Amino acid sequence: INLVVLFGGQSAEHDVSCTTAAHVLAAADPDKYRITPVGISTDGQWAVATEAADALRSGPAALPSRLDPRGDTLSPTTMLGEAAERPERTVVLPLLHGPMGEDGTVQGMLELANVAYVGAGVLGSAVAMDKAMAKQVLTAAGIAQARYRAFAEHQITPALPAELAADLGLPCFVKPANMGSSVGVTKAKTVEELRDAIDYALTYDEWIVVEEGIVGREIEIAVIGNDDPFVSVPGEILPGDEFYSYDDKYVNDASSGVIPAPLTPDQTADVQRQALAVFRALRCEGLARCDFFLEESGPARGFLCNEVNTMPGFTPISMFPKMLIASGMPYPEIIDRLVELALE
Ligand code: DAL
Ligand code: MG
Repeated sequence: INLVVLFGGQSAEHDVSCTTAAHVLAAADPDKYRITPVGISTDGQWAVATEAADALRSGPAALPSRLDPRGDTLSPTTMLGEAAERPERTVVLPLLHGPMGEDGTVQGMLELANVAYVGAGVLGSAVAMDKAMAKQVLTAAGIAQARYRAFAEHQITPALPAELAADLGLPCFVKPANMGSSVGVTKAKTVEELRDAIDYALTYDEWIVVEEGIVGREIEIAVIGNDDPFVSVPGEILPGDEFYSYDDKYVNDASSGVIPAPLTPDQTADVQRQALAVFRALRCEGLARCDFFLEESGPARGFLCNEVNTMPGFTPISMFPKMLIASGMPYPEIIDRLVELALE
């Protein structure tokens, strides 16, 4: 199989993608896959990533822990033209996180080129990427979530922060609608902080969501499959910071995870059932990581869906591969399964 691995990308999660790609390439069986690593720079240039391609020739051990996307420039149309010449033998693995990669844009291009690719299609990718849209769809599907409000930039008035504080309570969380890895996310404890948090989130997207702060545990589940997906054991995040922030995730090494999450059998079954319902409601395909809060005190609403990632991270701290490994699917098998699902 020719496996074209796209990584990097134009979003604020570029570096996370470069780390994800390094770990996926290191685990892919070189006897099964002829890998072409294609890096996308932050300004959108595509290239066959020289360093990664050289490392792959010397063996996966030569790969750095984060891939460099630079190399011989390649236009997307050339790459897709080559891929489309051998459609039954080619799979694109878009290891891209965030806008312009995980949001249906690249998926649309791959659809037009008639090339098989791993993960959700255009609609599932776009809906899951946009937190405001995803919440509406999940509400319609009867999935419990934190209370929230969503706004476009032009709807934001000077009175809004105080109104939101009264409605959702403080602290609350402000997020750009289209972003991942907690980039642009702030926990606001005062109306003033909420005002600044809104301005900050708007530097990443013209849509934002403001959510009530949940006092609870953070539980995640990996889902892999198409029509009849496999659901992993749940994992629990123990944030090192005030919340599971970008620095906490990738910079400070402060957070940790417990797999399987210490839950009762009933709680485990409940969150697994909900993860499957979320996967289906958002039209996910191939893979997703479904993230929940577990609220056990106060209103004690149980599991509340936080969000879904259609291309979850595969970095050393990432929960997606770890939860699957703990469920009996070793890393190389995860890759084989994703490729099989792409060709289904
Ligand atoms: N958005 C990051 C990569 C994740 O969900 O793992
Ligand atoms: Mg995310």
